[in-house]
Amino acid sequence: MSKVDVLLGLQWGDEGKGKVVDVLAPKYDVVARFQGGPNAGHTLEFDGIKHVLHQIPSGIFREKTKNIIGNGVVLDPIVFKNEIEKLGKFNLNVRSNLFISKKATLILPTHRLLDQAYEKEKGENKIGSTLKGIGPTYQDKIGRQGLRVGDILADSFREKFSKLTQIHFKILSEYDITYSWAELESQFLEAVDFLKGFQLIESEYVLNNELKAGSTILAEGAQGALLDIDFGSYPFVTSSSTVTAGACTGLGIAPRHIGEVYGIFKAYSTRVGSGPFPTELIDEEGDLMRKEGNEFGSTTGRPRRCGWIDLPSLKYSIMINGVTQLLMMKADVLSVFPTIMVCTHYKLSDGTITDMVPYEVVKEKIIPVYKELKGWSVSLKGFTKENLPFELVQYIKFLETELNVPITLVSTGPDRTETILR
Ligand code: GDP
Ligand code: IMO
Ligand code: MG
Repeated sequence: MSKVDVLLGLQWGDEGKGKVVDVLAPKYDVVARFQGGPNAGHTLEFDGIKHVLHQIPSGIFREKTKNIIGNGVVLDPIVFKNEIEKLGKFNLNVRSNLFISKKATLILPTHRLLDQAYEKEKGENKIGSTLKGIGPTYQDKIGRQGLRVGDILADSFREKFSKLTQIHFKILSEYDITYSWAELESQFLEAVDFLKGFQLIESEYVLNNELKAGSTILAEGAQGALLDIDFGSYPFVTSSSTVTAGACTGLGIAPRHIGEVYGIFKAYSTRVGSGPFPTELIDEEGDLMRKEGNEFGSTTGRPRRCGWIDLPSLKYSIMINGVTQLLMMKADVLSVFPTIMVCTHYKLSDGTITDMVPYEVVKEKIIPVYKELKGWSVSLKGFTKENLPFELVQYIKFLETELNVPITLVSTGPDRTETILR
């Protein structure tokens, strides 16, 4: 029996998951998304074209790879239709290569409105949600009143849809939100009809049969461990299990079938939306990082907050996920910094120095304790694993020693080809 390898973000998302899944996909028969939804924006670049995927797995450009949207995902039919239409000109076999779990939960237009309403109500304390309806949809799933992809095939769908939206309208009437329902409804129903034209499956059976047949499977995470509903900086998190265990519940794969766990991280840190970020640079260095790394959200276009790498939080993510290999992204972005800072510990308000993430991560005034390393100060274009700059090798070795997991891939640019396997 083969195994399911899992690839997931160890920081606050946008680590470069899309790029790496696309690079690894030729090695896999199946790529499957297990959580999240259109809050994700996964970027792939090759042949001079940049693609951003939101719900479709990042193996879609590889002809021989099956792509599955798992039961743990929340799916917005409208976003899905747009995504498929955008892919139209690239001559892909999406109708035969893409499969969607009947047990995935549907995002309704009212979920998006509720997301807006709740964020508006929170004012300054808002989560910084992508406003894609993620939280309210998972709320309905857990509250046992959600609609699932499989429901669209039943005659009772319109009735169920109407019943749930009535519940939402009641809540919305308490908030100051304006919308034109007729328009939203017809857009949604049209997209639902479109969705019916795809392969809606019982993905837990399909995946387990693939395993029995010896197929290789890669589970593609969305967001990152520090946005996880349990282990992230609650309440500034997303509403799903972004960790390895989420791949089991989000795909119907038993824990004993998990193989490698690829933990992906940027050579520095970014965060978009609200919430604690101990190493954040609110200065010219931060601005330079944003500019060099082109750190603007793939889904919302918002500027990403930038800062140095944070080892206490990376250690935490590695522990929770059981990471077996580390993949370091965007090393090229640090080429402009003569000195590179690595946060090895946190100093807490009572003077404690620790390399653990405190429970009160939101309230606590964390002061990062840094180790200073010399930068490599050269462009990484054209380097190979044999001749990487000395200081970059020192940086990698330092991180490997601290994190106690090998770094097996270093990414030096957004393109598929700018990838060094070690
Ligand atoms: P994801 O959500 O984890 O898939 O990451 P995003 O696509 O949201 O954000 C990562 C961004 O960094 C995208 O614009 C990628 O094209 C880009 N990127 C990925 N790897 C590298 C890299 O090694 N160097 C640089 N400069 N950009 C990269
Ligand atoms: P990918 O898969 C970065 C953040 C939002 C907000 C919080 C909650 O591209 O890495 P939500 O819309 O989920 O209710 O927002 O989580 N967030 C992300 N940040 N990358 C993502 O996905 C994200 N998905 C959600 O900015 O702070
Ligand atoms: Mg992203």
